[in-house]
Amino acid sequence: MNKTEKYEALLPQVKALCEGENDMIAKMANVAALLHYEFGFWWTGFYRVRSSEVGGLRPEVTDAEATSDLRPSTSDLILGPFQGPIACVHIAYGRGVCGTAWKERRTIVVADVEEFPGHIACSSESRSEIVVPIFKGDDVIAVLDIDSRELATFDDTDRRYLEEMVKFL
Ligand code: SME
Repeated sequence: MNKTEKYEALLPQVKALCEGENDMIAKMANVAALLHYEFGFWWTGFYRVRSSEVGGLRPEVTDAEATSDLRPSTSDLILGPFQGPIACVHIAYGRGVCGTAWKERRTIVVADVEEFPGHIACSSESRSEIVVPIFKGDDVIAVLDIDSRELATFDDTDRRYLEEMVKFL
């Protein structure tokens, strides 16, 4: 099976895994496992956007933030469900590939992580990477991050299918 055929086969599976389930963490966990084992990636997982306060972290946004049109002034990405080796827990807005995909609100494909300024090396094994933002309405609420041990693993086919898949979450 080539990459396109694999994704075509996986799309309905992702849909079925997510349909009728409203717990985002549970859905992310299964989608990470499915992609990771089908493709044999090095690291496959999610970071969720979470607001934080100076000096400590709190789990939820305040009522004021929740009803405001503005993104909370301090927020970061926090590690979510994943498959693979342990990874960094917090990523700041605009930092690394994940924080950049969040900030720029677009998928970022990195053929060689050493060429990406500010790349965060959670694992020295990782050579290429794709990060796909996940939207709820107009807001980025999370990103899907996949790392490969080979250079230039990801291309426009991955971008297209992964963007489709995360819509089911
Ligand atoms: N490389 C990512 C950090 C997350 S790990 O790859 C799991 C980045 O630069 O944002």
